[in-house]
Amino acid sequence: MSSTGDHTLAVEGLTKRYGDTVALDGVDLTVEEGEFVAVVGPSGCGKSTLLRVLSGLEEHFEGRAAVDGVDVRDGGSDAVGMVFQEPRLLAWADVRENVAVGLPSGVDRGDAAARDRVDDLIETVGLDGFAGSRPSELSGGMAQRVSLARGLAYRPEVLLLDEPFSALDQLTKYEQQDNLLEVWAEQGTTIALVTHDVEEAAYLADRVVVLGGQPGTVETVVDVDAPRPRDRTDPELLAARDAITDALGL
Ligand SMILES: Nc1ncnc2c1ncn2[C@@H]1O[C@H](COP(=O)(O)OP(=O)(O)OP(=O)(O)O)[C@@H](O)[C@H]1O
Ligand SMILES: [Mg+2]
Repeated sequence: MSSTGDHTLAVEGLTKRYGDTVALDGVDLTVEEGEFVAVVGPSGCGKSTLLRVLSGLEEHFEGRAAVDGVDVRDGGSDAVGMVFQEPRLLAWADVRENVAVGLPSGVDRGDAAARDRVDDLIETVGLDGFAGSRPSELSGGMAQRVSLARGLAYRPEVLLLDEPFSALDQLTKYEQQDNLLEVWAEQGTTIALVTHDVEEAAYLADRVVVLGGQPGTVETVVDVDAPRPRDRTDPELLAARDAITDALGL
């Protein structure tokens, strides 16, 4: 994708209610072009709600949310890709077709280059050999990786990821985190990633936004200054993890 927007995310005074439930209360957040920001917080604090607002799925909220320089209420930008917390795969389609759904709309899916791209993505997420499998034949972690490949197929300039690695075993999770960092470095993508995993947030992000409570408010923002490529045992990462854990009251 190639947009003329500024590839940023901007949220100001965002309050989102579902009936009597206040999911988010006065949240401010900016993500600069090419920045990698993680959002952490306890279950139910509004992390998915924040991404849903940014991806244009929620019409009713107070405050302002803009992606790629375009207000989400004005239709948003087509430079945005979203990987949902649940894989949301097409049950009747195989892995190859499910990934191909994510290709940009102008692309002919039968085209050799498009087929190669899909096969590359399937390999990247470690599912070669399963291209012809249907979602019902996959484990939860495999389905999650199909969803991730579908989100990357679009080559979005702004990528919203909702707990994309939560169903993966530790080794696969590490591999997929590193794959995502490669994509980010190669494509200069702006990323907002929601996770429960404090270690993951510190390893991946430039900044970690800690949401607290119910309703969700920003407790603190932790800068992660460790140089890249990162070593998982870097003391800077351990310090960032401690700061995030403290902010979460753990
Ligand atoms: N469609 C909805 N209708 C009513 N309430 C909702 C809806 N979606 C979310 N909520 C409520 O909004 C709050 C925030 O939900 P959200 O899914 O954003 O939390 P979360 O931080 O993503 O949680 P988790 O870590 O468990 O995924 C919760 O109290 C939830 O019950
Ligand atoms: Mg969620």
